[in-house]
Amino acid sequence: MKVDKEIPFEKLALFGCAVITGVGAVVNTAKIRLGHTVAVVGLGGVGLSALIGAVTAGAGEIIAIDINDNKLEQVIELGATHTFNSNDCNVVGKIREVTGGGLVYTFETAGIVPAMELAYAITKRGGTTVTTGLP
Ligand SMILES: NC(=O)c1ccc[n+]([C@@H]2O[C@H](COP(=O)([O-])OP(=O)(O)OC[C@H]3O[C@@H](n4cnc5c(N)ncnc54)[C@H](O)[C@@H]3O)[C@@H](O)[C@H]2O)c1
Repeated sequence: MKVDKEIPFEKLALFGCAVITGVGAVVNTAKIRLGHTVAVVGLGGVGLSALIGAVTAGAGEIIAIDINDNKLEQVIELGATHTFNSNDCNVVGKIREVTGGGLVYTFETAGIVPAMELAYAITKRGGTTVTTGLP
């Protein structure tokens, strides 16, 4: 794909990797639609892109999860409706409580095994865990 030469490489790199991966996971892989409730585990380049993809697709509730509280504060502005720190020892129970037993769609975007385990643990029976991370 040809891109405008005026766009700086550091911005193009994000679009060439994190944005297409995160938005693609939400829009193409899971095919999130209006009103779906989703969780994103890991709020780096890929996870923030997944979050923006979910907002754009019209997701209802969006649960954002990271180990970094600064990121959790920032994502409310982007459209997250709930935030959780995955270091909270009762994070699975708390997320199941606010979602009525778990989510139909979860996205693992951190690239480490504990994040994958958490994404799986908060997915409802019969739901879908999409993993983009490469541990
Ligand atoms: N599948 C693909 O095509 C593709 C493309 C790009 C990146 N990736 C992979 O996606 C992963 C993420 O990439 P990135 O650039 O967004 O990384 P990043 O370092 O920018 O973000 C990772 C985020 O995960 C958070 N995190 C770490 N441990 C966590 C935990 N236990 N629970 C919740 N959050 C946790 C970090 O605080 C950070 O915010 C990497 O493994 C990368 O290799 C895959």
